[in-house]
Amino acid sequence: MLTMQLADQDFWGNNTEGFVFFLGENLDGFVNHAHLEHIEQQYYPHLRTVLKRHKFEGKKGQLYTLTAPNNDQIKQFIFIGLGKQSKKSYIDLETLRRALGTMVLTLKKLSIETAIFSLPNEEIYKISAEELLKQTAIAALMASYDFTELKSNKDSHPEWNGNLFIKIADDKKGNFASALQQATIIGDAMNQVRRWCDLPGNFATPTYLSQEVEKIAAEHHLACTVFGHEKAAELGMGGFLAVDAGSHQDGKFVVLEYKTKEKNAPTIALVGKGITFDTGGISLKPSESMHGMKYDMSGAAAAIAVMKIIAQLKPEVNVVSVTPFVENMPDGSAQRQDDVIRFMNGKTAEIKSTDAEGRLILADGLCYAEKFYTPETIIDIATLTGACLIALGYYYTGLMTQDDTLLEVLPKIGFATGDRTWPLPLDDDFKAANNSPIADLRNTGSGEYKAGTITAGCFLQEFVKNARWAHLDIAGTADGVPGISYLGRGSAGASIRLLVEFVMNYRTYMGTTQIPEHEA
Ligand code: BES
Ligand code: ZN
Ligand code: ZN
Repeated sequence: MLTMQLADQDFWGNNTEGFVFFLGENLDGFVNHAHLEHIEQQYYPHLRTVLKRHKFEGKKGQLYTLTAPNNDQIKQFIFIGLGKQSKKSYIDLETLRRALGTMVLTLKKLSIETAIFSLPNEEIYKISAEELLKQTAIAALMASYDFTELKSNKDSHPEWNGNLFIKIADDKKGNFASALQQATIIGDAMNQVRRWCDLPGNFATPTYLSQEVEKIAAEHHLACTVFGHEKAAELGMGGFLAVDAGSHQDGKFVVLEYKTKEKNAPTIALVGKGITFDTGGISLKPSESMHGMKYDMSGAAAAIAVMKIIAQLKPEVNVVSVTPFVENMPDGSAQRQDDVIRFMNGKTAEIKSTDAEGRLILADGLCYAEKFYTPETIIDIATLTGACLIALGYYYTGLMTQDDTLLEVLPKIGFATGDRTWPLPLDDDFKAANNSPIADLRNTGSGEYKAGTITAGCFLQEFVKNARWAHLDIAGTADGVPGISYLGRGSAGASIRLLVEFVMNYRTYMGTTQIPEHEA
C-alpha cells in the first residue's frame, strides 16, 4: 500500500527517513540546489564531489543512495537521474514517471516507509503544476503495485506501507489536494483491476469477476446488470454463446452504467474483451502461446476500472461499460471450426478458428451497447491479436478507427498520459479478407491479406452501425511490458489512463455533441 500526501511543512522539517532528489544531467536543471547545499552543510560536506566520484551524473535512470546517521535517526538520500532535457516535453514527463517508479522500487527494497520529494518545475513539461502532480502521483501508485498474494511465505514478501510526502514549492498556485485525490482514485482503481488480470484463470473466473464488479457497482452507485447464457440466448448473442459453450465456467455478460445529472449529455460505451483464459478452444493454442492467456480479460478489466474512476470523478457524460466474461476452452460441447454462428444483429460468421474468439464476444458486446444505449461514441478495448504485438511491440496500443477526431485525439492523449497508442489503417480494402463463401463473414482474416490486427478490426466494424467508434488492441501493452520501472512485468493497466482522460474531457476533445453520421 502506498499513501501520498502534500508536505505542508518545510522540506527538512519533516520527520521522514527518505529524501529523494531528481537530478538532471551534470546534477543540473531539475532540482532545487538549496537541497543539495543543505545536505552538504548537514551531512556530507562534499556531496557533489562524492556523487561525481561515484559516477552519478544524473543520467537518465541512474540511481545512487547514501545513508547518514542523524542523532538517533537514520536519513537516507536517494538520487535519481533525469538525464538531459529532451526536445519533446512528453518524453521528459515519461522520464519523470519512470524516475518515480525507480524511487518507489528503491524505497521498497530499502524498507523505507516514509519519504519526501519535491516536484520538479512544471515549465519543462509544458503542463500545469497540478497536472504534473497528478501524473507523478499516478505513476508512483502504479509502481507500488505488486502481486504477491499467492506466495505463502509472507516474510520473504513483507508488506510495504509507504507514506510519501510531496513538497510543492511555496510559490505554486493550484488545487493540489484535488489533483492528488484524483490521482489516488485513478491509481487505486487501476491497481485493483491489475490484480484481477494477474490472478490466474482458476481464481479469476467469470463468476468471480462479475461478483467483484457487483461490489464496485454497489459501492459507487452504478447500475449493474449481470446475465448468463439464458438471457444471452434470448437476445440472440450467438458469439457469446459459441465461446461460452466450451467451458464449465458459466460466462457472465456484465454491464455497468454511469449517468450524469446533465440533461442531453452524450453517451460513451466502453466494450471490453473479458476472456478469463484463452486456450484457443478446439483450435488449441500450442503450449508456449498459451502462457499469459490469463491476461485475455485485460480489456474488460480496463473498462471496469474506468467506470469505477469516473463514478468518483463525475464527468458530464453518460458512460456504459459492456464486458462479456467467458473462458475459451476445448470440450465436447465447444464450438467447432466450420461452424456458422449468428450474432445479435443477425449477421452470420463462419468459424475458421475458435482461437479468434475475442471478436465473437465483442461483436455481441458492440451490438448490445448500440441497441440499448445509442452511444455517440464506442471504444472497444481488447487483447485481440498476437499480430498487434508483432507490429507494435509492448509500448504502443494499436488504434484503429475511421473517425478523424478519434484518430487525432487518442494518440495525443496517449502521449499526455503515458498510455501510448498508435494508429493502424482501417481502410475498406482490408474488409474483403473477412469474406466467407457460406456466411456473411469469416472469423479470421484470410491469410492472403496478412495484417491480422487490421482484419480483426474490420470484423468488429461490422457490428457498429451508427456510433463513432475506435478499436484499441492491447495485446502487446496489457502485460509483460519490459523496461518500464513503474509498470512491473505483470498487468500494466493498459488504456485506463488513456480512457479516463478521454472520458473526463470528452466534450473538449470531440467538440460539443456532434450528431454522428448515420448509415443509410
Ligand atoms: N488472445 C489472443 C490474442 C493474443 C495473442 C493476445 C498473444 C496477447 C498475446 C486471441 O484470442 C487470439 O488467439 N488471436 C489469434 C487470432 C488468429 C486465430 C486469427 C492470434 O492472434 O493468433
Ligand atoms: Zn484466442
Ligand atoms: Zn483471446
